Amino acid sequence: MIVNTPPMGWNTWNTFGQNINEQLIRESVDTFIKLGLKDAGYQYFVIDDCWSEHERDPQTDEIVPSKTKFPNGMKAVADYVHENGLKFGMYSCAGVRTCANYPGSYNHEFLDAKTFARWGVDFLKYDYCLRAINGEAPYLYRRMGQALRQCGREILFSACNWGSEDVWSWIRTTGASMYRSTGDIFDNFESAKNIAISQLPKMCYSAPNCFNDMDMLTVGMFGKGNVGRDSTNTIDEYTVQFAAWCLWGSPLMLGCDLRKMTPEILKLVTNRDLIAINQDPLVAQPYCLEPHAMSAGWVPVARFLEGGDLALGLFNFSDNPRECSILLEWLGFPYDSKYRLEMRDLISGETTLSGRDDINGQVPPHSVRIFRCHPVPAC
Ligand code: GLA
Repeated sequence: MIVNTPPMGWNTWNTFGQNINEQLIRESVDTFIKLGLKDAGYQYFVIDDCWSEHERDPQTDEIVPSKTKFPNGMKAVADYVHENGLKFGMYSCAGVRTCANYPGSYNHEFLDAKTFARWGVDFLKYDYCLRAINGEAPYLYRRMGQALRQCGREILFSACNWGSEDVWSWIRTTGASMYRSTGDIFDNFESAKNIAISQLPKMCYSAPNCFNDMDMLTVGMFGKGNVGRDSTNTIDEYTVQFAAWCLWGSPLMLGCDLRKMTPEILKLVTNRDLIAINQDPLVAQPYCLEPHAMSAGWVPVARFLEGGDLALGLFNFSDNPRECSILLEWLGFPYDSKYRLEMRDLISGETTLSGRDDINGQVPPHSVRIFRCHPVPAC
Protein backbone atom coordinates (compact mmCIF):
# COMPACT_ATOMS: atom_id res chain seq x y z
CA MET A 1 0.00 0.00 0.00
CA ILE A 2 1.41 3.38 -0.97
CA VAL A 3 1.04 6.11 1.66
CA ASN A 4 2.64 9.38 0.59
CA THR A 5 1.80 11.68 3.49
CA PRO A 6 1.04 11.12 7.20
CA PRO A 7 -2.42 9.58 7.75
CA MET A 8 -5.00 11.81 9.49
CA GLY A 9 -8.07 10.79 11.47
CA TRP A 10 -9.66 10.19 14.86
CA ASN A 11 -9.29 7.39 17.40
CA THR A 12 -11.51 6.41 20.34
CA TRP A 13 -8.82 5.56 22.91
CA ASN A 14 -7.69 8.88 24.42
CA THR A 15 -11.14 9.96 25.51
CA PHE A 16 -13.31 6.87 25.60
CA GLY A 17 -11.07 3.90 26.46
CA GLN A 18 -13.40 0.95 26.99
CA ASN A 19 -16.58 3.10 26.91
CA ILE A 20 -17.28 2.68 23.22
CA ASN A 21 -20.40 1.60 21.37
CA GLU A 22 -22.19 1.90 18.05
CA GLN A 23 -24.19 4.95 19.12
CA LEU A 24 -21.03 6.84 20.11
CA ILE A 25 -19.39 5.95 16.80
CA ARG A 26 -22.41 7.11 14.78
CA GLU A 27 -22.64 10.38 16.70
CA SER A 28 -18.91 10.95 16.33
CA VAL A 29 -19.04 10.28 12.58
CA ASP A 30 -21.91 12.78 12.23
CA THR A 31 -19.99 15.37 14.24
CA PHE A 32 -16.78 14.70 12.31
CA ILE A 33 -18.58 15.60 9.09
CA LYS A 34 -20.51 18.55 10.57
CA LEU A 35 -17.32 20.12 11.95
CA GLY A 36 -15.65 19.98 8.53
CA LEU A 37 -12.86 17.65 9.67
CA LYS A 38 -13.20 15.57 6.53
CA ASP A 39 -12.86 18.71 4.41
CA ALA A 40 -9.74 19.62 6.39
CA GLY A 41 -8.16 16.27 5.40
CA TYR A 42 -8.99 13.93 8.30
CA GLN A 43 -10.02 10.59 6.93
CA TYR A 44 -9.55 7.54 9.18
CA PHE A 45 -12.13 6.80 11.85
CA VAL A 46 -10.54 4.30 14.24
CA ILE A 47 -12.02 2.12 17.00
CA ASP A 48 -9.25 1.22 19.46
CA ASP A 49 -9.10 -1.56 22.09
CA CYS A 50 -12.13 -3.05 23.93
CA TRP A 51 -14.46 -3.54 20.98
CA SER A 52 -14.77 -7.36 21.10
CA GLU A 53 -16.19 -10.10 23.25
CA HIS A 54 -13.73 -11.43 25.83
CA GLU A 55 -13.36 -14.76 23.99
CA ARG A 56 -13.25 -15.88 20.36
CA ASP A 57 -16.16 -17.75 18.80
CA PRO A 58 -15.62 -21.41 19.86
CA GLN A 59 -16.81 -22.71 16.47
CA THR A 60 -15.13 -20.38 13.97
CA ASP A 61 -12.26 -19.13 16.18
CA GLU A 62 -13.01 -15.62 14.88
CA ILE A 63 -12.90 -12.50 17.04
CA VAL A 64 -16.47 -11.41 17.73
CA PRO A 65 -17.61 -7.81 18.24
CA SER A 66 -19.11 -7.18 21.68
CA LYS A 67 -22.83 -7.94 21.45
CA THR A 68 -23.71 -5.19 23.91
CA LYS A 69 -21.44 -2.46 22.47
CA PHE A 70 -21.91 -3.30 18.78
CA PRO A 71 -25.22 -5.22 18.57
CA ASN A 72 -25.37 -4.89 14.76
CA GLY A 73 -21.81 -6.14 14.23
CA MET A 74 -18.84 -4.30 12.79
CA LYS A 75 -19.86 -4.38 9.14
CA ALA A 76 -22.79 -2.11 10.00
CA VAL A 77 -20.40 0.34 11.68
CA ALA A 78 -17.95 0.18 8.78
CA ASP A 79 -20.82 0.79 6.32
CA TYR A 80 -21.86 3.91 8.23
CA VAL A 81 -18.30 5.23 8.22
CA HIS A 82 -18.00 4.53 4.48
CA GLU A 83 -21.40 6.09 3.69
CA ASN A 84 -19.99 9.28 5.14
CA GLY A 85 -16.97 9.15 2.85
CA LEU A 86 -14.53 8.15 5.60
CA LYS A 87 -12.26 5.15 6.09
CA PHE A 88 -12.76 2.69 8.91
CA GLY A 89 -10.02 1.64 11.33
CA MET A 90 -9.83 -1.08 13.96
CA TYR A 91 -7.42 -2.37 16.56
CA SER A 92 -5.77 -5.67 17.43
CA CYS A 93 -2.60 -6.84 19.11
CA ALA A 94 0.48 -8.94 18.27
CA GLY A 95 0.11 -10.71 21.60
CA VAL A 96 -2.31 -13.40 22.72
CA ARG A 97 -4.41 -10.72 24.43
CA THR A 98 -4.71 -6.98 23.83
CA CYS A 99 -3.46 -4.40 26.33
CA ALA A 100 -6.95 -4.28 27.87
CA ASN A 101 -7.12 -8.11 27.92
CA TYR A 102 -9.35 -8.88 24.94
CA PRO A 103 -8.34 -11.55 22.36
CA GLY A 104 -5.15 -10.65 20.47
CA SER A 105 -4.22 -11.84 16.99
CA TYR A 106 -1.20 -14.02 17.83
CA ASN A 107 -1.42 -17.22 15.77
CA HIS A 108 -4.70 -15.93 14.33
CA GLU A 109 -3.19 -13.25 12.10
CA PHE A 110 -4.42 -14.60 8.75
CA LEU A 111 -7.88 -15.43 10.06
CA ASP A 112 -8.26 -12.02 11.70
CA ALA A 113 -7.01 -10.13 8.64
CA LYS A 114 -9.66 -11.93 6.54
CA THR A 115 -12.34 -11.14 9.14
CA PHE A 116 -11.35 -7.45 9.14
CA ALA A 117 -11.40 -7.42 5.34
CA ARG A 118 -14.90 -8.94 5.32
CA TRP A 119 -16.16 -6.21 7.63
CA GLY A 120 -14.70 -3.47 5.40
CA VAL A 121 -11.79 -2.38 7.58
CA ASP A 122 -9.32 0.06 5.96
CA PHE A 123 -6.80 0.56 8.79
CA LEU A 124 -5.43 -1.69 11.52
CA LYS A 125 -3.65 -0.42 14.62
CA TYR A 126 -1.56 -3.31 15.93
CA ASP A 127 -0.43 -3.22 19.56
CA TYR A 128 2.32 -5.09 21.44
CA CYS A 129 0.97 -6.33 24.80
CA LEU A 130 0.91 -9.88 26.25
CA ARG A 131 3.22 -11.47 23.73
CA ALA A 132 3.92 -15.19 23.48
CA ILE A 133 7.34 -16.27 24.72
CA ASN A 134 8.83 -16.60 21.21
CA GLY A 135 7.22 -13.35 20.11
CA GLU A 136 10.04 -11.23 18.73
CA ALA A 137 8.78 -7.94 17.43
CA PRO A 138 9.93 -7.98 13.76
CA TYR A 139 8.62 -11.52 13.38
CA LEU A 140 5.24 -10.67 14.93
CA TYR A 141 4.76 -7.53 12.84
CA ARG A 142 5.84 -9.32 9.64
CA ARG A 143 3.19 -11.99 10.26
CA MET A 144 0.37 -9.46 10.41
CA GLY A 145 1.97 -7.42 7.61
CA GLN A 146 1.77 -10.47 5.34
CA ALA A 147 -1.73 -11.39 6.54
CA LEU A 148 -2.98 -7.92 5.57
CA ARG A 149 -1.25 -8.10 2.19
CA GLN A 150 -2.98 -11.42 1.49
CA CYS A 151 -6.45 -10.61 2.86
CA GLY A 152 -7.95 -9.28 -0.36
CA ARG A 153 -8.51 -5.72 0.86
CA GLU A 154 -6.21 -2.71 1.10
CA ILE A 155 -5.72 -2.18 4.85
CA LEU A 156 -3.26 0.39 6.19
CA PHE A 157 -1.01 -1.24 8.79
CA SER A 158 -0.38 0.97 11.81
CA ALA A 159 2.23 -0.61 14.10
CA CYS A 160 2.23 0.24 17.78
CA ASN A 161 5.16 -1.16 19.78
CA TRP A 162 5.89 2.13 21.57
CA GLY A 163 9.35 2.71 20.06
CA SER A 164 10.80 -0.43 21.66
CA GLU A 165 13.27 -2.92 20.08
CA ASP A 166 14.79 -0.18 17.88
CA VAL A 167 11.59 -0.33 15.84
CA TRP A 168 12.80 2.27 13.32
CA SER A 169 15.55 -0.12 12.16
CA TRP A 170 13.18 -2.89 10.97
CA ILE A 171 9.62 -1.59 10.79
CA ARG A 172 9.84 -0.94 7.04
CA THR A 173 10.41 -4.69 6.51
CA THR A 174 6.88 -5.41 7.80
CA GLY A 175 4.76 -3.37 5.40
CA ALA A 176 3.63 -0.98 8.15
CA SER A 177 2.76 2.52 6.92
CA MET A 178 3.17 4.18 10.33
CA TYR A 179 4.76 3.12 13.60
CA ARG A 180 4.39 4.36 17.15
CA SER A 181 7.74 5.58 18.37
CA THR A 182 6.92 6.45 21.98
CA GLY A 183 5.02 5.25 25.03
CA ASP A 184 1.46 6.43 25.57
CA ILE A 185 0.64 10.12 25.60
CA PHE A 186 -1.23 11.73 28.51
CA ASP A 187 -3.16 14.94 28.39
CA ASN A 188 -0.62 17.27 29.93
CA PHE A 189 2.06 19.58 28.59
CA GLU A 190 4.97 17.54 30.04
CA SER A 191 3.84 14.43 28.16
CA ALA A 192 3.51 16.16 24.77
CA LYS A 193 6.76 18.06 25.34
CA ASN A 194 8.70 14.88 26.24
CA ILE A 195 7.36 13.06 23.18
CA ALA A 196 8.26 15.95 20.87
CA ILE A 197 11.77 16.32 22.29
CA SER A 198 12.40 12.57 22.31
CA GLN A 199 11.73 12.45 18.57
CA LEU A 200 14.24 15.13 17.55
CA PRO A 201 17.00 12.56 16.89
CA LYS A 202 14.53 10.25 15.09
CA MET A 203 13.34 12.60 12.37
CA CYS A 204 15.33 10.75 9.72
CA TYR A 205 13.22 7.63 10.36
CA SER A 206 9.98 9.10 9.05
CA ALA A 207 9.27 9.17 5.33
CA PRO A 208 6.66 8.18 2.73
CA ASN A 209 5.26 4.71 3.30
CA CYS A 210 6.25 4.60 6.96
CA PHE A 211 5.69 7.59 9.23
CA ASN A 212 6.85 8.07 12.80
CA ASP A 213 3.62 8.15 14.81
CA MET A 214 3.98 10.28 17.95
CA ASP A 215 0.62 8.97 19.30
CA MET A 216 -2.94 10.26 19.15
CA LEU A 217 -3.30 13.96 19.90
CA THR A 218 -4.75 15.03 23.22
CA VAL A 219 -5.56 18.47 21.80
CA GLY A 220 -9.01 19.55 23.01
CA MET A 221 -9.41 16.95 25.76
CA PHE A 222 -8.98 19.48 28.58
CA GLY A 223 -8.34 16.70 31.08
CA LYS A 224 -11.48 14.72 30.26
CA GLY A 225 -11.45 11.02 29.47
CA ASN A 226 -9.26 7.97 29.48
CA VAL A 227 -5.82 9.65 29.29
CA GLY A 228 -7.15 12.89 30.71
CA ARG A 229 -5.67 12.90 34.20
CA ASP A 230 -7.54 16.14 35.04
CA SER A 231 -4.88 18.26 33.40
CA THR A 232 -5.11 21.94 32.61
CA ASN A 233 -3.70 22.40 29.11
CA THR A 234 -4.04 25.95 27.83
CA ILE A 235 -4.79 26.74 24.22
CA ASP A 236 -1.13 27.80 23.82
CA GLU A 237 0.01 24.41 25.10
CA TYR A 238 -2.31 22.60 22.71
CA THR A 239 -1.01 24.83 19.93
CA VAL A 240 2.54 23.71 20.78
CA GLN A 241 1.42 20.08 20.59
CA PHE A 242 -0.44 20.43 17.30
CA ALA A 243 2.32 22.51 15.68
CA ALA A 244 4.99 19.99 16.75
CA TRP A 245 3.01 17.01 15.39
CA CYS A 246 2.50 18.93 12.11
CA LEU A 247 6.09 20.07 11.69
CA TRP A 248 7.68 16.78 12.84
CA GLY A 249 5.49 15.00 10.23
CA SER A 250 3.58 12.70 12.59
CA PRO A 251 0.23 11.16 11.62
CA LEU A 252 -2.52 13.43 12.98
CA MET A 253 -5.02 11.29 14.88
CA LEU A 254 -7.40 13.40 16.96
CA GLY A 255 -8.37 11.96 20.34
CA CYS A 256 -10.82 14.37 21.97
CA ASP A 257 -14.61 14.07 22.24
CA LEU A 258 -15.59 15.61 18.90
CA ARG A 259 -19.08 16.39 20.21
CA LYS A 260 -17.60 18.74 22.80
CA MET A 261 -14.91 20.39 20.70
CA THR A 262 -14.67 24.14 21.37
CA PRO A 263 -14.51 26.60 18.43
CA GLU A 264 -10.94 27.52 19.44
CA ILE A 265 -9.80 23.90 19.23
CA LEU A 266 -11.64 23.36 15.96
CA LYS A 267 -9.87 26.40 14.52
CA LEU A 268 -6.52 24.96 15.65
CA VAL A 269 -6.97 21.41 14.34
CA THR A 270 -8.35 22.65 11.01
CA ASN A 271 -5.62 25.28 10.56
CA ARG A 272 -4.98 24.68 6.88
CA ASP A 273 -1.52 26.21 6.92
CA LEU A 274 -0.33 23.88 9.69
CA ILE A 275 -1.94 20.87 8.02
CA ALA A 276 -0.31 21.87 4.72
CA ILE A 277 3.10 21.61 6.41
CA ASN A 278 2.23 18.17 7.80
CA GLN A 279 1.00 17.03 4.39
CA ASP A 280 3.64 18.79 2.30
CA PRO A 281 4.28 16.59 -0.76
CA LEU A 282 8.07 16.96 -0.57
CA VAL A 283 8.00 15.16 2.83
CA ALA A 284 11.43 16.64 3.60
CA GLN A 285 13.07 15.70 6.89
CA PRO A 286 12.55 18.34 9.60
CA TYR A 287 15.71 19.29 11.48
CA CYS A 288 16.65 20.97 14.72
CA LEU A 289 18.64 24.10 13.88
CA GLU A 290 20.47 24.56 17.12
CA PRO A 291 20.58 21.44 19.30
CA HIS A 292 22.22 23.43 22.13
CA ALA A 293 19.18 25.71 22.34
CA MET A 294 17.45 22.81 24.08
CA SER A 295 19.53 23.37 27.20
CA ALA A 296 17.90 26.82 27.33
CA GLY A 297 14.48 25.20 26.93
CA TRP A 298 13.67 26.27 23.40
CA VAL A 299 13.86 24.33 20.15
CA PRO A 300 14.03 25.77 16.64
CA VAL A 301 12.91 23.28 13.97
CA ALA A 302 12.83 23.87 10.21
CA ARG A 303 11.73 21.92 7.19
CA PHE A 304 12.08 22.59 3.46
CA LEU A 305 8.71 22.65 1.67
CA GLU A 306 7.79 21.94 -1.91
CA GLY A 307 8.22 24.92 -4.20
CA GLY A 308 11.02 26.76 -2.36
CA ASP A 309 9.33 27.87 0.89
CA LEU A 310 10.29 26.54 4.28
CA ALA A 311 8.59 26.03 7.61
CA LEU A 312 10.16 27.33 10.80
CA GLY A 313 8.92 26.67 14.34
CA LEU A 314 10.35 28.34 17.43
CA PHE A 315 9.17 26.18 20.33
CA ASN A 316 9.53 27.44 23.87
CA PHE A 317 9.03 24.37 26.07
CA SER A 318 10.34 26.18 29.15
CA ASP A 319 8.47 27.97 31.93
CA ASN A 320 10.00 31.38 31.12
CA PRO A 321 9.85 33.73 28.12
CA ARG A 322 12.77 33.17 25.70
CA GLU A 323 14.60 35.37 23.25
CA CYS A 324 14.98 33.15 20.18
CA SER A 325 17.68 34.00 17.65
CA ILE A 326 18.17 32.19 14.39
CA LEU A 327 20.83 32.83 11.76
CA LEU A 328 19.49 32.62 8.21
CA GLU A 329 22.63 30.65 7.50
CA TRP A 330 21.13 27.77 9.54
CA LEU A 331 18.29 27.69 7.02
CA GLY A 332 20.69 27.54 4.08
CA PHE A 333 20.87 31.29 3.35
CA PRO A 334 24.31 32.71 4.14
CA TYR A 335 24.65 36.52 4.00
CA ASP A 336 26.10 36.30 0.49
CA SER A 337 23.03 34.47 -0.82
CA LYS A 338 21.37 37.91 -0.85
CA TYR A 339 18.04 36.53 0.33
CA ARG A 340 15.89 37.31 3.29
CA LEU A 341 12.61 35.74 4.34
CA GLU A 342 9.04 36.91 4.18
CA MET A 343 7.60 35.15 7.23
CA ARG A 344 3.91 34.40 7.65
CA ASP A 345 2.94 33.59 11.24
CA LEU A 346 0.59 30.61 10.84
CA ILE A 347 -1.29 31.31 14.05
CA SER A 348 -1.79 35.10 13.87
CA GLY A 349 -1.68 35.40 10.06
CA GLU A 350 0.68 38.38 10.33
CA THR A 351 3.54 38.68 7.79
CA THR A 352 6.94 40.17 8.67
CA LEU A 353 10.34 40.35 6.99
CA SER A 354 13.38 38.66 8.52
CA GLY A 355 16.56 40.58 9.24
CA ARG A 356 19.35 40.63 6.65
CA ASP A 357 21.03 37.68 8.29
CA ASP A 358 18.98 36.69 11.29
CA ILE A 359 15.54 36.26 12.89
CA ASN A 360 14.93 37.39 16.45
CA GLY A 361 11.82 37.21 18.52
CA GLN A 362 10.45 36.58 21.95
CA VAL A 363 8.38 33.46 22.55
CA PRO A 364 6.24 33.24 25.71
CA PRO A 365 6.54 30.17 27.98
CA HIS A 366 4.85 26.94 26.75
CA SER A 367 4.26 28.56 23.33
CA VAL A 368 5.33 28.35 19.75
CA ARG A 369 5.77 30.76 16.89
CA ILE A 370 5.48 28.92 13.63
CA PHE A 371 6.03 30.47 10.21
CA ARG A 372 5.87 29.68 6.56
CA CYS A 373 8.90 31.47 5.11
CA HIS A 374 9.19 32.64 1.54
CA PRO A 375 12.68 33.64 0.34
CA VAL A 376 12.77 37.09 -1.32
CA PRO A 377 15.75 38.99 -2.77
CA ALA A 378 17.38 41.25 -0.16
CA CYS A 379 17.69 44.81 -1.53
C1 GLA B 1 -1.58 0.60 24.35
C2 GLA B 1 -1.46 1.61 23.20
C3 GLA B 1 -2.55 2.65 23.33
C4 GLA B 1 -3.93 1.98 23.34
C5 GLA B 1 -4.00 0.94 24.45
C6 GLA B 1 -5.26 0.12 24.37
O1 GLA B 1 -1.28 1.19 25.57
O2 GLA B 1 -0.19 2.20 23.18
O3 GLA B 1 -2.46 3.60 22.27
O4 GLA B 1 -4.15 1.38 22.08
O5 GLA B 1 -2.89 0.05 24.39
O6 GLA B 1 -5.34 -0.84 25.39
